[in-house]
Amino acid sequence: MTRPAVLRRLLSGTPLIAPSMLKCDFANLHREVELLESAGAKLLHLDVMDGHFVPNLSYGAPVIKSLRAITKLPFDAHLMISDPARYLDDFLDAGCDLVTVHIEAVRDPSELLRRIRQSGAGAGLALNPGTPVEAVLPFVQECDLILVMSVEPGFGGQKFIPAALEKVRRLAPQLGSDRLLSIDGGIDAETIPPSAAAGANQFVVGSAIFDTKDYRQAIERLALTASGAAVSANSE
Ligand code: DX5
Ligand code: ZN
Repeated sequence: MTRPAVLRRLLSGTPLIAPSMLKCDFANLHREVELLESAGAKLLHLDVMDGHFVPNLSYGAPVIKSLRAITKLPFDAHLMISDPARYLDDFLDAGCDLVTVHIEAVRDPSELLRRIRQSGAGAGLALNPGTPVEAVLPFVQECDLILVMSVEPGFGGQKFIPAALEKVRRLAPQLGSDRLLSIDGGIDAETIPPSAAAGANQFVVGSAIFDTKDYRQAIERLALTASGAAVSANSE
């Protein structure tokens, strides 16, 4: 299957820093998107929570649809919801470019991944800290992105769980260079180097961007640190 053009574009811009909108100022959503755009963000990570799969609620397809009208940045939707099949079309119609579902929420993700790709979007599978890599390995070829959670999903601002690094290390050779390997949770200046060295090429970042005053500086520094760590890991 041919890959969506947006995916090829994103892959050519790795390491990607994906700002997690969960940590933004929701009273000024439009302004936050503009600030991120002018700070050089290459995509937006949109955390969707249903208060059931995770013990928190965030926002859904209507909010994403409204955002779609104000920016051309690719949308990386992370569905932390118990029944993604039921709501999938809403997210695809809202203009998401990448849609990631959790392996814990769907026993057999093949049909969902196929529906996502058929719509022209990139298909992702996420795994929680307690879920072994083996759960997603059979589906790697059906995915455009694998997302390794490095915190328990549900909240920003948590501490990075180092065991995620071994999962990234195991997944990286399976994914190669034509898929995104994303790590999400507790990513900052300290945790991005080992994550990049392990083989991640996309880094979801909430606090380490939104808790700073200068988004551009935060994004640039994190990207630079990630590429430095990836280069030295590859030359070892
Ligand atoms: C957690 C979300 C993350 C989170 C990242 O469930 O998937 O995207 O908001 O925020 P930080 O970087 O603060 O851990
Ligand atoms: Zn996320």
